[in-house]
Amino acid sequence: MGKLIGNKKLNIAVFISGRGSNLNNLIKFSKKKKSFINLIFVVSSSKAARGLVYAKKNNIKIIIFNYKKKLTSERNVLKILNSNKIKLICLAGFMKILSIKFIRNFKGKIINIHPSLLPRYKGLNTHERVIKNNEKFTGCTVHFVNKNLDSGKIIIQKKIKIKKGDTASILSKKVLTLEHQLYPKAIKKLFASL
Ligand code: GAR
Repeated sequence: MGKLIGNKKLNIAVFISGRGSNLNNLIKFSKKKKSFINLIFVVSSSKAARGLVYAKKNNIKIIIFNYKKKLTSERNVLKILNSNKIKLICLAGFMKILSIKFIRNFKGKIINIHPSLLPRYKGLNTHERVIKNNEKFTGCTVHFVNKNLDSGKIIIQKKIKIKKGDTASILSKKVLTLEHQLYPKAIKKLFASL
């Protein structure tokens, strides 16, 4: 990832597909006085992603990732990210699978947030499955991205107790609040380990 030299900030790109609450949270984090990240690009798998509103409001450049032409699109995105010295990609509700080639090209520099205590409950509908299985705890995880879904090395995890009466929808709200605390912490932790 390269060392931070002097006051130089780490250039990041955030990839989204939908609502963008984690994106909005990272934008706020990047604007803090002592922030060490520059959020340069928002890459979206859809023109219609609701989260793009946060990029527009904050004058952050937007790249639309056209999944109908996945490989060409990936090549273009890579080119833009590399030529703008992007050092970290944060997937935040990005619901598409990146190719092995793309991941290799950004090895160790792509991270993702997932709403479960990985390695348990990879994939979709985590909260529904957690409730159905009468779990006692849930939480969220930030991990490195590798070629397998939700499977890369864990960077940080946060756990909460599930209360009687919690539904999937209640859990999703509680876990989202945790996610907003955890993602900035994960980026900080990555820095500390450089
Ligand atoms: C978040 O809960 C995130 O953890 C999840 O999608 C939601 C996006 O919300 N990601 C995954 O499930 C990836 N496997 P947001 O668009 O409001 O940030």
